[in-house]
Amino acid sequence: MNDFEKRRMDFPTLRAESPPIYFDNACMTLKPQPVIDAIHTYYTTHPSCGGRSVHQYANQVSQKMAASRRNMAAFINSPEVSEVVFTRNATHSLNQIAKGLSWEEGDVVLTSDREHNSNLIPWLQLEQEKGVDHRVVTSNPDNTFDMEAFEASCADAGERLKVVSMPQVGNLDGVEIPIKEVAKVAHDHGALMAVDAAQSAPHMSLDVQDLGADFIAFSVHKMLGPSGMGALWGRHELLDGLRTLSAGGDTVQWSEYDGMEWLSTPHRFEGGLDNYAGILGTGAAVEYLNNMNMNDIHEHEIRLNGLMSRGIEDLEGLSIIGPRDARQRGGICSIMVDGFDAHELAILFDESANVMMRSGMHCVHSWFRQRGYEEGSLRSSFYFYNTEEEVKFVVDTMQEVHAALF
Ligand SMILES: Cc1ncc(COP(=O)(O)O)c(C=O)c1O
Repeated sequence: MNDFEKRRMDFPTLRAESPPIYFDNACMTLKPQPVIDAIHTYYTTHPSCGGRSVHQYANQVSQKMAASRRNMAAFINSPEVSEVVFTRNATHSLNQIAKGLSWEEGDVVLTSDREHNSNLIPWLQLEQEKGVDHRVVTSNPDNTFDMEAFEASCADAGERLKVVSMPQVGNLDGVEIPIKEVAKVAHDHGALMAVDAAQSAPHMSLDVQDLGADFIAFSVHKMLGPSGMGALWGRHELLDGLRTLSAGGDTVQWSEYDGMEWLSTPHRFEGGLDNYAGILGTGAAVEYLNNMNMNDIHEHEIRLNGLMSRGIEDLEGLSIIGPRDARQRGGICSIMVDGFDAHELAILFDESANVMMRSGMHCVHSWFRQRGYEEGSLRSSFYFYNTEEEVKFVVDTMQEVHAALF
């Protein structure tokens, strides 16, 4: 039994007598016992607020929150622990970036053409409300990143280019954008680089210092952590200049009727009583991942994706979104089936084979609608606890379903 297989026992849902084949990890991962224990311990032994009161319960919460932040900082190699802000999810982090910056009419924002709504809608909203000019960089026909088109878009925007915001890995197809190079080009044009790391941080090594971006959004519930948890990393000097979306309790040193003094980063962004159970669960999740080799996780997922892709790629009427080579699609295999609604197929797999996959447009409506693909796709997304046996079973089932449908 390899290390990944042994780790399956850490997940209560996988210890069940007939565990499901869970291939919806790009939406949310399963939770290992240490994360569940951290949440349970919070509610059973010190269910109190942190960062305010000074009694024993509160002190424990405050200390554990600080440890969670340190764990997260270590996971992404943040130069400073205080550059890690806890948020509700990646969506909240991206909104904090978009709405925390100051804008002038005509400022340009560039995104890719494969955006999750969380990295599209905030910019569209700014376009509607503030006259920001949101532009889309078109990918190559196989969805890989077109560096030339990007450079041309930057040049075209000229001095109005203010922010480039892109996903490191797309949830539509698993295709990676070379953020380090993109960030360099963005900076050469005087723009800020924001990264949606929702689909990269859980699956590959991510070093914020090496990446060279200015802001990075994380989705903690996609990396073993509790639901309703995310994080935002930003360079200190930039976070300090960002307007907070969450002004209120525990964001200021003091207040008077006609003034106040803000607390420093990250507290300025974490107004009100927090999701303490979630933050402590986040600490446990990140500690779990800190004890693993992220490169091994990435390779494992690519291996599974290769197996899956080879098993189905020649079936007539099925097409995989993105490049043919599974290595370029990380741990995501998103399939369109001619003439069949993806939700109906997902229900069929769930009810008849105990396989959980995601169906629909995966919050990337823009990509599907532009192409007129109304049926959406059936997406398998892998994590380290998935096995080759599971993939083989799904491929066999897919072939049987295919034979029945076509
Ligand atoms: C690429 C990408 N960005 C952003 C999000 C939104 O993440 P969250 O649910 O943490 O807001 C998702 C969720 O699926 C995603 O896949």
